[in-house]
Amino acid sequence: MTVLTQHFRTVFWEDDAAVLLDQRLLPVREVYNRYRDVDGMADAIRDMVVRGAPAIGIAAAFGVVLAARQASGDREAIRRSCAQLAATRPTAVNLFWAIERMKRRMDRDGPSVSALLDEAQRILSEDIAACRTLGDLGAAFIPDGATVLTHCNAGALATGGWGTALGVIRSAVAAGKNIRVIADETRPRLQGARLTAWELSRDGIDVTVIADNAAASLMARGQISAVVVGADRIAANGDVCNKVGTYSVALGARAAGVPFYVAAPVSTIDRACAHGGLIPIEERAAEEVTLIDGVRVVAEGVPALNPAFDVTPAHLVSAIFTEAGVFEGDYGKSFSRMDAQSAAER
Ligand code: MRU
Repeated sequence: MTVLTQHFRTVFWEDDAAVLLDQRLLPVREVYNRYRDVDGMADAIRDMVVRGAPAIGIAAAFGVVLAARQASGDREAIRRSCAQLAATRPTAVNLFWAIERMKRRMDRDGPSVSALLDEAQRILSEDIAACRTLGDLGAAFIPDGATVLTHCNAGALATGGWGTALGVIRSAVAAGKNIRVIADETRPRLQGARLTAWELSRDGIDVTVIADNAAASLMARGQISAVVVGADRIAANGDVCNKVGTYSVALGARAAGVPFYVAAPVSTIDRACAHGGLIPIEERAAEEVTLIDGVRVVAEGVPALNPAFDVTPAHLVSAIFTEAGVFEGDYGKSFSRMDAQSAAER
């Protein structure tokens, strides 16, 4: 069995501060920023110092701890900070899930900094454990010798550790399989080129970057065995919202007969959202499209649209890997069964 060592930490608590690996600077510089107030943490989430659905949930949970420390027992002030953190990014449901969980802990144990820090640490360690489990479950679907295409970064950089889509790949490699990864560059912010390639190459996993628009033809030519992506929110019917461009990959995969898998913790499933059309899609600044590294590539005065996410309809998804099991077919029914089972276990 191959032992993989993750050489970095994405989001953690150290001494009296929340610490984030500044993902805006990767792969050129590896810098850890320390946050001691909730305003700084809210800005960090909005500016994408930390990004990826589970990772921003964990960062927000540490943000609530910082808020509690500043508020010295004032519950209303902590609630206002929760609203501030929730207003940073609209699409990834893990952000709201983590903040709600922190509020419930405050309702139970009061505005105690140590209780809230305990809850945030639990959210972090449970996320790592979930990624390990769903990674192992998903790896069973990836044959030895496979070439796996992924979009964006759904790795250790996007979670507490191990990753979701990249967790499946890590688990497959750890089980001794020979896996090659093709990473879409992921315009406009290049999470695939800058982050996925960095994180996999540091683990010694074979990774090659392609321009996003090369994905469909590689699949059509039989050069991709499977697609595995993460998710920012999965609707109750199994529609999957993820980084913009994921839908095009899913269409290409269906046309080429390539399986399209989604890997996500249960905290990414939004049972209150009936279908993907109801998921709020973040619209980011036009400059992310019109400028590359500060250099203008679109004529002055020409507008750009920049939706950060898209929705892949459930019928294009071959399976969803979660820590609670692998779902296939009618996702609405299997999510309901999972809810009933976990209610019975409580
Ligand atoms: O805008 P980002 O970089 O936060 O978007 C991240 C993604 O779309 C990831 O694929 C998703 O959050 C899954 S992370 C395990």
